[in-house]
Amino acid sequence: CNNSDTGGDSGSAADEKITLGFSQVGAESGWRTANTTSIKDSAAKAGIDLKFDDAQGKQENQITAIRNFIQQKVDVIAFSPKVETGFETVLKEAKDAGIPVILTDRAVDTPDKTLYKTFLGSDFVKEGKASGDWLVNEMKGATADVNIVELQGTTGSAPANDRKKGFADAIAANPKLKIIASQTGNFERAGGKAVMEQFLKANPKIDVLFAHNDDMGLGALEAITAAGKVPGKDIKIITIDAVKDGMQALADGKFNFIAECSPLLGPQLMELVKKVKKGESVPARIETQETTFTQEQAKAALPTRQY
Ligand code: AHR
Repeated sequence: CNNSDTGGDSGSAADEKITLGFSQVGAESGWRTANTTSIKDSAAKAGIDLKFDDAQGKQENQITAIRNFIQQKVDVIAFSPKVETGFETVLKEAKDAGIPVILTDRAVDTPDKTLYKTFLGSDFVKEGKASGDWLVNEMKGATADVNIVELQGTTGSAPANDRKKGFADAIAANPKLKIIASQTGNFERAGGKAVMEQFLKANPKIDVLFAHNDDMGLGALEAITAAGKVPGKDIKIITIDAVKDGMQALADGKFNFIAECSPLLGPQLMELVKKVKKGESVPARIETQETTFTQEQAKAALPTRQY
């Protein structure tokens, strides 16, 4: 039976496959690798045709990728914006072309909220605050100043801006907690190591390192050990993400605390892609559920950690 009153749409299921253009920031960290795997695996499982572009850490590459997706007339565009500013023009182009956009993992800072359908990702301010709250509690008996160094993520990125703010707000509870140096390590291991080396040279007394992600903390470990100090003891280390290598360092007593940031956004993203393609309404903000880990909690969680 040929059901011809469906507007002539007699295509097979394969013809009706949704096409998703996804622009990834790069491959700067273990988190990012796990995020890319989650997106690719979930697209395959959901039967979505994924056009994946790796911008190799460059905003201009992301803008070019999004323009290419518009030209290819994909059904939906999703991307993890490297930084918060500078995407308005290309977002307007997508809107004018009638292609819905989903922000994934990181937000953009634009007054026009109609440029994207929703933002799926973590609350980075909360992650910074959880890190600071842990330190406030840990140092509650401190009689001398506690010298903190901070390794920031990519300059201008939502996680770097928000984690810095959340942490600073939390440690304001105790004036003895002082950030004596703060610089970007670009979310990379090599960056974390190089900047920590400088911090150690310039500051004879460092009590705490707050790194905006595990990878920078892991790089910093090498610098701390090379300087003859014991990570986790001489210098307490707080990081964010909770990828396997970070959790291992925490379980081994080299890190002291991790605030989780989940990279497993793929399944939720594919659900959203299907909904916006159908024209269904979606919440403007979908926040990822996450937790925190102490050394003991990391030991317990490690054996079943997926990434
Ligand atoms: O945007 C999420 C952050 O980007 C992760 O915390 C960090 O590891 C990554 O590079």
